Amino acid sequence: MSENQSSRLSGFYNLSQPARLAALKAWAALTDEEEAVLAGARGLTLERGEHMVENVAGLYTLPLGIATNFIVNGRETLVPMVIEEPSVIAGASLAAKLARAGGGFVADVDEPVMIGQLQVVDLVVPEAARVDVLRHREELLALANEVDPVLRRLGGGARDLEARVLESTPAGPMLVLHLAYDVRDAMGANAINTACERLAPRVEAITGGRVFLRILSNLADRRRARARVTIPETALAFGEFSGADVAAGIERAWAFAAADPYRAATHNKGIMNGIDAVVLATGNDWRASEAGAHAYAARSGHYTSLSAWRRDGQGQLVGSLELPLALGIVGGATRVHPTAQIALKILRVQTARELAEIVASVGLAQNLAAIRALSTEGIQRGHMSLHARQVAIAAGALGQEITAVADSLIRQGEIRSDRAEVILHELRGQR
Ligand code: MEV
Repeated sequence: MSENQSSRLSGFYNLSQPARLAALKAWAALTDEEEAVLAGARGLTLERGEHMVENVAGLYTLPLGIATNFIVNGRETLVPMVIEEPSVIAGASLAAKLARAGGGFVADVDEPVMIGQLQVVDLVVPEAARVDVLRHREELLALANEVDPVLRRLGGGARDLEARVLESTPAGPMLVLHLAYDVRDAMGANAINTACERLAPRVEAITGGRVFLRILSNLADRRRARARVTIPETALAFGEFSGADVAAGIERAWAFAAADPYRAATHNKGIMNGIDAVVLATGNDWRASEAGAHAYAARSGHYTSLSAWRRDGQGQLVGSLELPLALGIVGGATRVHPTAQIALKILRVQTARELAEIVASVGLAQNLAAIRALSTEGIQRGHMSLHARQVAIAAGALGQEITAVADSLIRQGEIRSDRAEVILHELRGQR
């Protein structure tokens, strides 16, 4: 495997699944065992599942597809994506291909600092308790640092302690402490929750109050990831659409999301289509990413777009995305789920930072694909073929019948289950 072999696997889409897997095996230097996991012959077992969640009664599988064409910070990258929705992976690959015309994505992330919250109640004078806590700041940080000596050795640990009074809540005033804690390559929920629990008795002694909740905040806004892309407008031309028209349409589509929460929710959902698919493939917590993203989108008090798209007046379209991303490559399902391990290997990431840079880039690519389609030919055309196949399968089509029924649905321009059943019935009657 050469470090910078191209991710521009032209024609990958048209290969058979075994040929795709073979190409991926060569690209990422997968072992026979890893190939067998991806092929579904091995992978997550019931026994392993029992170590992940409670009351295991079975397994649930989803397809893992590969988004091609990505360049992130100059590095050629294939992106494993796990998702049930058609067109997402094709969209990401197409947008990454457009981005190549401008050199790909540039991404960066903050230090991996998570926030843990302690809710202090039953205080006589909350403001005085706040001052007392801050007077003991160094002592409390040192205490938090005792929790995980391994993390400390790796350069992580407590970074900061903030305190603020919530004067008016439905349960009266309360003091809230924020422990900022560097979790290095972990997602960090366990580390931060443990640290918060460790601080609680000492905080009670200092304040004379009672520590109630002790839990991380999913609004991980000290751990943001950013991605940016600059695309020459000429590279955006297709069909009857000029590059300038496409760029102007993308900017106008973004403006709608920037101004209107109803549109912003869908716009951001499109971004999360890409983000969640990689988060899931790598065994990370996609609900945490979702919670952080949407809370961040509403940080001004007005829910808005997570991304921005502007023409620079010099023939280029510039896109950017910023959101909190708490992702790990150690601990949790990233280590336990065999496919998650393979996904990390395909991505060639050595740190949680690199993973977040790729994930933010995929989010921006996914957004580009969606608003490019919406502002030109509409979204349904791209959806049609896989959607028709799903409708055919739902109607009972098997094997080669699936393509035949789907093609017929598209030809007739009516992709509905009742039509699929009729076509299938006719097809079987002909044999
Ligand atoms: C569909 O899953 C996602 C889109 O609705 C996103 C968008 O509207 O920007 C296409």
